[in-house]
Amino acid sequence: AAHPLRHVDSMATMPSGAGKIPYLNAVILGEALASEENDLIYPSDDFSRQAHVPSPQKYLELYERSVKDPGGFWSDVASQFYWKHKWAADHVYSENVDVRKGPVQIEWFKGGITNICYNCLDRNVEAGLGDKIALHWEGNDLGNDASLTYSHLLHRVSQLANYLKDIGVRKGDAVIVYLPMLLELPITMLACARIGAVHSVVFAGFSAESLAQRIIDCKPKLVITCNAVKRGPKVIPLKDIVDAAFVQSSQTGVSIDTCLVYENALAMKREKTNWQDGRDIWWQDVIPNYSTKCEVEWVDAEDPLFLLYTSGSTGKPKGVLHTTGGYMVYTATTFKYAFDYKPSDIYWCTADCGWITGHSYVTYGPLLNGATCIVFEGAPNYPDSGRCWDIVDKYKVTIFYTAPTLYVTRYSRKSLRILGSVGEPINPSAWRWFYNVVGDSRCPISDTWWQTETGGFMITPLPGAWPQKPGSATFPFFGVQPVIVDEKGVEIEGECSGYLCVKGSWPGAFRTLYGDHERYETTYFKPFAGYYFTGDGCSRQAKLANLHKSMFRDKDGYHWLTGRVDDVINVSGHRIGTAEVESALVSHPKCAEAAVVGVEHEVKGQAIYAFVTLVEGESYSEELRNSLILAVRKQIGAFAAPDRIHWAPGLPKTRSGKIMRRILRKIASGQLGELGDTSTLADPNVVDQLIALSNC
Ligand code: PRX
Repeated sequence: AAHPLRHVDSMATMPSGAGKIPYLNAVILGEALASEENDLIYPSDDFSRQAHVPSPQKYLELYERSVKDPGGFWSDVASQFYWKHKWAADHVYSENVDVRKGPVQIEWFKGGITNICYNCLDRNVEAGLGDKIALHWEGNDLGNDASLTYSHLLHRVSQLANYLKDIGVRKGDAVIVYLPMLLELPITMLACARIGAVHSVVFAGFSAESLAQRIIDCKPKLVITCNAVKRGPKVIPLKDIVDAAFVQSSQTGVSIDTCLVYENALAMKREKTNWQDGRDIWWQDVIPNYSTKCEVEWVDAEDPLFLLYTSGSTGKPKGVLHTTGGYMVYTATTFKYAFDYKPSDIYWCTADCGWITGHSYVTYGPLLNGATCIVFEGAPNYPDSGRCWDIVDKYKVTIFYTAPTLYVTRYSRKSLRILGSVGEPINPSAWRWFYNVVGDSRCPISDTWWQTETGGFMITPLPGAWPQKPGSATFPFFGVQPVIVDEKGVEIEGECSGYLCVKGSWPGAFRTLYGDHERYETTYFKPFAGYYFTGDGCSRQAKLANLHKSMFRDKDGYHWLTGRVDDVINVSGHRIGTAEVESALVSHPKCAEAAVVGVEHEVKGQAIYAFVTLVEGESYSEELRNSLILAVRKQIGAFAAPDRIHWAPGLPKTRSGKIMRRILRKIASGQLGELGDTSTLADPNVVDQLIALSNC
C-alpha cells in the first residue's frame, strides 16, 4: 500500500500561499477539513528549517529506504557507533516473525562486537565531551542536587564495574537492581553493561512479593539496592523490602549471597538499617576503593543487555529480553529524531528507570547521543504541583518528555523547545493544554507510541517534518511497518476497526521472553500469524467520537491510538495486568472471586476498578475493603492498588463460565444505558444486583 505521505510528489504543483506551509497543506489538507480530528497544528517555519527532518519529502525519502533496504539503512546508522568488529556486510539482520515458517527469531548486526556502555561514555569522552554534564540529579527535597560530567560518570561506572568483576560477576550473569532514581541507578545499569552482565531493574515501587518473583525467575548473582528512599514526605525502607523478598526467594531455593546497599543518607542513616553481616555490603565502603579505569567486556550485538519484567493479560510478569547492538542503534536514533535532539539541548524525561521509558530514554538513548539529562528522584507534586516547572526553569530544560498526567502552573518555561508524551493515549483537549499552556503554543509535541517490547519509539511525530493533529501519534518511525488487521489477521484498509500489528522486525525489537520462548511466540506472534501483535487495538473511522479502545488511521494516514484491547491497564504510565490484581485479591481469605477492569481517570489515565465476590457468610465493610486493597499493595505494589472495590454478589458470566468484562467495564464507568446484549448471561439478574450496589 502506498505510504500516506507519498503524494508529496505532487506538491510542487500546489499554489503557494495556500497556508503557512503550502506544501504540507497539499499533502494533508486535501479538501476542507474543519472537524476536530483534522485540526492541524503546524511547526513554525523556523523550527522546521533547523530540524533534522524538515519536511515530509525528507521523511519519505528516509522512510522508504528504511523499509525497502533495512539492511543498508540500519548499517549506515549503526556505523556511527563504535564497533570493535563489524557485523558481516551480507548479514545485517535476519528474521523470522512467521510462526508458520518455524521458530520466531530476530537478529540484528550479529557478529558485530561492541559495548553499549563504551558507546555511551568512553566514545563521548574521547570525542571531547568529557567535561559536559551527562546527568543532573534533582533530589526529592528542594535543594538536594548533584551533577556528573561524562568523565565523572565514566569513573563512577568503572569503579562499580571493577567491583562486580571482583566478586565474580561475569558476562551473561543477571543482576537485579532495586533502586530509586538516584544517580546510582543509571550508574549500575551502565556498569552491568560494561562487563556484559544482564541488568534487571525492578521498579522500586514493587512489593517484596513482586521482587521475590523476579529474583526466583532470573536468579541474579547479586541484588543492588539502597537502604531507603524519600518519596514526597514519606520514608520508604527499601532494604527491608529486599530482606523480605530474600526470605521468600530462599523458600524456593534461590538464595542471594551478596546484597550491595547504597547508603541513601538523605532518607535514612546506615545505623538504622537492618543488616545481615556477610551478605550485605555498603556501597560507600567498597566501591570508592576500586580503580576508575575498567576495561570493557566486548560483546556480540546479540548478547543480552537487559531483562525487564512487564505485565501481560494473563499469568505472571514476563521477562522481556533486549540484546545489545540493535537496541543501542534503535534507542539512539529514535531519541535523536523524535526529539530533534541538538547538542545544546537539556533533556528531561520524568520516567523512572524501573520502566522501559527510563531504560531507553533516561539512560541509553540520551547518553548515546552525548546529551545532558536530568534524573529526578521525587514526585511531580512535591512539595507542590509546581515542582516540574521549577525543575524545567532551574535547568533550562529544552526537551521535556512525560506522561500526560501532570498539572498546570505559573512558571515561564521559556526554555522549552519540544514536548514529549508517552504511555497512554492523550486526548485532544489534554493535547491542546499541553501544547498551549505548557509549550506556549510554540513547542511541537512528540506523542510517542511504543512498548516495553519494542525497545524504542514506533509511531511518533518527527517535530518539524509535518503538522500535528491533537491526539495523534502521526506516522511510523524509520523501519517500522504498522498494519491494521481484522480478527482473522487480514490486513485492512479504509474505514474499519482492527488490531495494531507490525510487519517484519526492527533493530530495537525484543528477542524473547526470558526462559520462555514459547510464551513469546504464543503471546505476540500467534494471534495474527506473520505479524507481531502489539495488544493495542485499532480502527480507522472518520469520527474521533466513535473511537473506543482503538487506533485510528485516518484518511490522511495519521495514526490514532486509544488503548489496549487485552486485559492490560495503564495507570499513570504503569503497566498492570488485570490478572495479577485479581490473583492478589483472591489471595485474601475472604475473597471468593474478583474481576478487575480499567476505567478512565482524569489524572492517571486509567484507574483500577475491582469487582469482588466474598466467600459465603462474609459481609461488606470498610475494613474489609481496606484489607483487600492492602493485599494488592502487598503482592504487587502501592501503584497497583484498586481505586474502587465494587461488591459483587455474583459476576456476569456466559453459560460457559466466562466473565463478560465488557459489561463490567460499562458498569464501572457508569454507562448503564450501554450494557448491550445481556441475554447470553447465565444469570441476567447479576447485572441488576451489581447496579444496585454501585454506590455502596
Ligand atoms: O497501550 C499502549 C500504551 O502503553 C502500552 C505499553 O506499555 P509499556 O510497555 O509499559 O510501555 C510504556 C511506555 C512506552 C502500549 O501497548 N501506550 C504507550 N505509549 C502510548 C500508548 N498509548 C497511546 N499513545 C501513546 N503514545
